[in-house]
Amino acid sequence: MDVSLRRLRAEDIDQVIEIEREAFSPLWASTPFKRELNNRYASYLVAYRGSEVRETAVPPNDDLPKNRSLWGRFALLTQAVLGRRSVPPEPDSNVTGYVSVWYQGEEAHITEIAVREPLRGNGIGELLLIGSLRSAMEYGSQVMTLEVRVSNFIAQRLYEKYDFKLVGTRKAYYSDNREDAAIMTTSPILTDEYEQMFQDRQEAYRSRWGEIHIDS
Ligand SMILES: CC(C)(COP(=O)(O)OP(=O)(O)OC[C@H]1O[C@@H](n2cnc3c(N)ncnc32)[C@H](O)[C@@H]1OP(=O)(O)O)[C@@H](O)C(=O)NCCC(=O)NCCS
Repeated sequence: MDVSLRRLRAEDIDQVIEIEREAFSPLWASTPFKRELNNRYASYLVAYRGSEVRETAVPPNDDLPKNRSLWGRFALLTQAVLGRRSVPPEPDSNVTGYVSVWYQGEEAHITEIAVREPLRGNGIGELLLIGSLRSAMEYGSQVMTLEVRVSNFIAQRLYEKYDFKLVGTRKAYYSDNREDAAIMTTSPILTDEYEQMFQDRQEAYRSRWGEIHIDS
């Protein structure tokens, strides 16, 4: 699947809210994404399908969109003659998942990570985690941490893959069913040891899922 990462934009928010609702309990306090866009101490990344501006082969004339104006179709055809064209972003790009990270002192805290349900198991969650770890390293955070339901083995497996370890629990942390949270934290991420492990995991990711695209 051709999935890339970039920063959250205002036009993604409706889709991100859909994913948040689908992934978390109805009692989950929804994130004020609009306000968070301006939060300097947080980073929000979305995974989206396709590349936003890239060179693609031009479709044959019959495939040109029929709803374009005559001028629009002429412009596309002209570009076809030139060989290639640049495709602008789809108006509602296909957001497939998102991750939010808050920077608190020396810690980067993953507050939410979720992938659209039908698309889970395709490496998107791992891509989001890679993106958030890279952001935390750029920010200068020393460790990355998060809370996860003790029953959420799938997410825990993902975090363990990037060397998060169980460091404690928060009793009755989740208000819907009073479930405990496991607190999972990495070892220091700005060390040669972590960097080596991180490079190895990313290499394995590339061989399995393809190149890692993160737009700046
Ligand atoms: C957790 C979540 C983000 C993972 O995203 P995903 O795109 O399905 O995960 P990926 O396909 O990238 O898989 C990455 C790793 O996650 C773990 N994982 C994913 N699906 C799994 C499954 N069905 N069983 C066990 N482990 C699984 C594995 O460690 C996997 O690595 P591997 O393929 O090398 O074994 C996704 O399941 C989700 O959105 N869940 C609902 C929201 C949620 O629970 N968020 C976490 C809150 S703390």
